[in-house]
Amino acid sequence: MPRLVSLSRAAKLVGLSRGALQKRVHDLELKSFEGQVNLDDIEKMFPDAKLEDNHIIEDLEKIVEQALKKAHGAKLAKLLAPDAYTLAARLQSITKDHARSKNQVHEFIELFSNLQSQISHLAKTSDKPHLFEDLNNWLDDSINKIQDVVIKPAPLLEKDTVLRVMAAQVHIKNTGHEFFVDGTNSILEAGLSAGLALNYGCSNGICGKCKAKLISGEIKKIKPHDFVFSESEKLQNYFLCCSNTAITEIEIEADEAGSEKDIPAQQIAAKVKKMDKLTDDVLILNLKTPRTNRLRFLAGQNVILSRADLPPLEIAIASCPCDDMNIQFHISKNNNNLFTRYIAEELNNSDSIHIEGPTGSFILDEDSNKPVIFIAFDTGFAPIKSLVEHAVTLEHAEFIHLYWIHAGEKPYMHNQCRAWEDALDNFKYQQQQYDNSDAQQLEDKFKILIDEYSDFSDKNIYICGTEKMVRKTQQVLLNHNAEKERLKIQIL
Ligand code: FES
Repeated sequence: MPRLVSLSRAAKLVGLSRGALQKRVHDLELKSFEGQVNLDDIEKMFPDAKLEDNHIIEDLEKIVEQALKKAHGAKLAKLLAPDAYTLAARLQSITKDHARSKNQVHEFIELFSNLQSQISHLAKTSDKPHLFEDLNNWLDDSINKIQDVVIKPAPLLEKDTVLRVMAAQVHIKNTGHEFFVDGTNSILEAGLSAGLALNYGCSNGICGKCKAKLISGEIKKIKPHDFVFSESEKLQNYFLCCSNTAITEIEIEADEAGSEKDIPAQQIAAKVKKMDKLTDDVLILNLKTPRTNRLRFLAGQNVILSRADLPPLEIAIASCPCDDMNIQFHISKNNNNLFTRYIAEELNNSDSIHIEGPTGSFILDEDSNKPVIFIAFDTGFAPIKSLVEHAVTLEHAEFIHLYWIHAGEKPYMHNQCRAWEDALDNFKYQQQQYDNSDAQQLEDKFKILIDEYSDFSDKNIYICGTEKMVRKTQQVLLNHNAEKERLKIQIL
């Protein structure tokens, strides 16, 4: 009987991204059974996968943790370990499965033994007893082979069992998405950390927007909530994702944003958490929203920042939607905008800034797992950073190529980009300096990309920079077969 596991679980077991495994399915190297893969096939394909062979997934988790920007502070490590009740419930669920399998094995052994008795009996009364003896010998051989398989080490199966104890898998029936819930994280937190655009509002059990329907499995309330369900909702097993964790593997129905149109307009009074001057020209502004009024947005979108006495500023968000309380912006001081100057010269920690939005549709095509090329010009890196962090969290792209063209000596987040390249097998980072005043030089910078790909069809491409740069790049790529609908641009 095939031992089927979801693609996400198989990817976690062998320490690959889901996108890399999806590529094997796409290239017909690995068989898929309605979105699941056979653990035996995985074992054959990755014979060296060991329980401790986890460096890639650990690196990936570090990046996701960085994207979360330690939103939970020191509590994170504690949250990752399931509590005693959750552990007991998960062990109980595994024990039930184990008992069921043991019963099945017992029944099959009985069946075989009865079958052998019947065959022996038939052999006595048959005029061709050797045929029945051959059949019995074949059955003996087959049983011995099964016993050999049973005692053979099965590292992936063992690892899968450990994973089932440490993290519960959530399947969203209506979208087909899956994610894991670590420790006693809420289902909402875990889903957002996995890059899903789940519907929510207050994150605090008040608004009811994170309502979902439990189809199978066991959940546990981790905090009380004020929201009241109707009797009919209670009967249909509705629960709040922000107030519950998954105890066992669960299947739910939940709302997810499919596009920017599904994200509501929001108004938030945020505070300045930190400002970092990275170079003479670039400043990183980090804002913090109230816990009960976080910013819901899609990676790559903008917001409008305002203060009563200044014209508002529409600016790209540079952080990942998985960290909805800590919003980052990259401020270019060369910009003549009054608000930018105010941020650079007058803003202080703890000052208030009004956020309105989100706006814009420079967002990731999550339905496509084609290779992705991100091209950033100077602070056009801001929305690209948000998209890269989101793409890495989603693990859905076959390959990611980040190309950063910059005026200064070094890109202002060069080390961050190199860390991505070091940590991820399917990530490439290149950067090129250019002289803003030399148009021909800019053209030369594209040669690297053209030499690498020559044909840009079948690639999802995202470009952000000034209008001149973006239009020029767009034209060059279209001349090399880039597909218009796969080419998204954002003008600074
Ligand atoms: S997000 Fe408001 S109740 Fe869960």
